[in-house]
Amino acid sequence: MATNITFHPGSVGSSERIDLLKQKGVTIWLTGLSASGKSTIACALEQHLLHLRKFSYRLDGDNVRFGLNKDLGFDEVSRNENIRRIGEVAKLFADACAITITAFISPYIADRALVRELHEKSSLGFIEVFVDAPLEVVEGRDPKGLYKKARTGEIKDFTGISAPYEAPPNPEIHLKTNELDVTQSVAVIVDYLTSNGFI
Ligand code: PPS
Repeated sequence: MATNITFHPGSVGSSERIDLLKQKGVTIWLTGLSASGKSTIACALEQHLLHLRKFSYRLDGDNVRFGLNKDLGFDEVSRNENIRRIGEVAKLFADACAITITAFISPYIADRALVRELHEKSSLGFIEVFVDAPLEVVEGRDPKGLYKKARTGEIKDFTGISAPYEAPPNPEIHLKTNELDVTQSVAVIVDYLTSNGFI
C-alpha cells in the first residue's frame, strides 16, 4: 500500500483540456459472455470513430491479459483485480479525452459498479453496454473452441459454464447480438453518443 503520496494536478484542468482538444472523454464499457461479440463490435466502433477523426482507443480482454494483466487468472479475485485495473486505465484515458471502448467479460455487477463510480466521481462519462447473446448461441459460435474445452473440464472457471455471469439489470445500451449485425450494433452506440453530446 502506497503511503505519503500527494495528488499532483496538472497545469491544464479538465474543462480546458476538453476545450483545447474539442472532445469529451467517455468510457464505453462492453460486457457480455465470451463470443457474445464484444471484440468485434469494439473494433468496428473504434474504426468508425477514428474515421470521424475522433480520438478513440480500444482496450480488449485478451490483449490486456498479454501485458498489464498477465499475472492474473480467471478465479473471482483475479477477475475483480483485472476489472479494477482496467477501470483505472479507462478512467485515465477518459480524462485524457479519449473515447475509450473496453471489451471485457467483466462478469460481476459489483466490479462494473465500482468502475462506474470511479468515472462518475471524476465527472467522466460511463456507458455500460450489455452485449447480449444466449449461452446456446455463443456456445454454438465458439470461435476459439473454449466452450468445448470448458464442457470437458479442460478449462476451469469458464464464464457461463463453470463461473457466473451477472447480467447488467440496467445498462445504458442493450444489444442483442443474435438479432443485430455488427453495423447495426455500432449504429446504436453511435446514436447514443450523438444524442448525449459525446460526438
Ligand atoms: S474477465 O472475466 O473480464 O476478467 O475476462 P477478460 O479479461 O475479458 O478475458 C476473457 C478472455 O479470456 C479468455 N479466457 C476465458 N474467458 C472466460 N473464462 C475463462 N476461464 C477463460 N479462460 C480464457 C477468452 O478468450 C476471453 O475472451 P472473449 O473475447 O471474451 O472470448
